[in-house]
Amino acid sequence: MGDMERINLEQLPRHIAIIMDGNGRWAEEKGHDRLYGHFKGVESVRAVVEAAAELGIKHLTLYAFSTENWERPEEEVTGLMTLLVDTIKKEVPVLNKNNIKLHVIGDTNMLPDKVQKELKKAIADTAQNTGLNLIMALSYSARWELVEAAKRLATEVKKGKIIPEEINQSLFSAYLTTEQFPDPELLIRTGGEQRISNFLLFQIAYAELYFTQLRWPDFGKNDLYDAVVDYQARQRRFGKTGKQVTHGAPGNQHS
Ligand code: IPE
Ligand code: IPE
Ligand code: MG
Repeated sequence: MGDMERINLEQLPRHIAIIMDGNGRWAEEKGHDRLYGHFKGVESVRAVVEAAAELGIKHLTLYAFSTENWERPEEEVTGLMTLLVDTIKKEVPVLNKNNIKLHVIGDTNMLPDKVQKELKKAIADTAQNTGLNLIMALSYSARWELVEAAKRLATEVKKGKIIPEEINQSLFSAYLTTEQFPDPELLIRTGGEQRISNFLLFQIAYAELYFTQLRWPDFGKNDLYDAVVDYQARQRRFGKTGKQVTHGAPGNQHS
């Protein structure tokens, strides 16, 4: 089926996170250099962002560059940064047209000045939008984020602003880069690998995982619908029994 009619709009995930993997292999398999794969990957970003906005998804987090990716060959890193600047510049009017608000999570101080500047501008230019929250994970890793949270919490304790006994899951979440967003209910990884690669480790504790062999440049709107349909067929139990989540609370497994 090719359209979004197969999706139950009453049971949408509030937050979808995607590990956009497979650009390099997609290109190499076709005899191109890896950068061409990243270039083609931008089209998939466009398609998926549009599909999520049309469905009425409130949060979409895209893992675009990890802190570990800085270790790639210099020309790939430089190429990716250039692609990033060009894409942000070009897409701001499209984001505004579709009422999409841009956010960035990650160790952005590591990004080249030019990228930081364009990002700041794009975030400010889309700040008034009220539709989809598009969260780009750039120079992001979960262990970096968790250690930062620990450092900041320790500083607050040292200053006497927090007592250790006050620290609970909800307070801890407030020290993560995703503070203002709900946890993802659905995590998609393209490219065929079945691993998390240091992405949102705290936040995906109960996310439904969806792995596809499709390389990211081959992933389109319809593939996002497939993932959402798959998600909607699952029973989310959160440690309870199947009976507990179906009896008395219809539809609750998706709330
Ligand atoms: C994902 O594609 C994009 C980034 C990590 C920047 P890859 O570049 O990892 O592609 P593969 O996994 O090598 O095919
Ligand atoms: C994960 O992909 C990071 C992004 C998609 C940005 P990688 O290609 O870096 O992950 P590994 O190396 O296969 O685990
Ligand atoms: Mg990869």
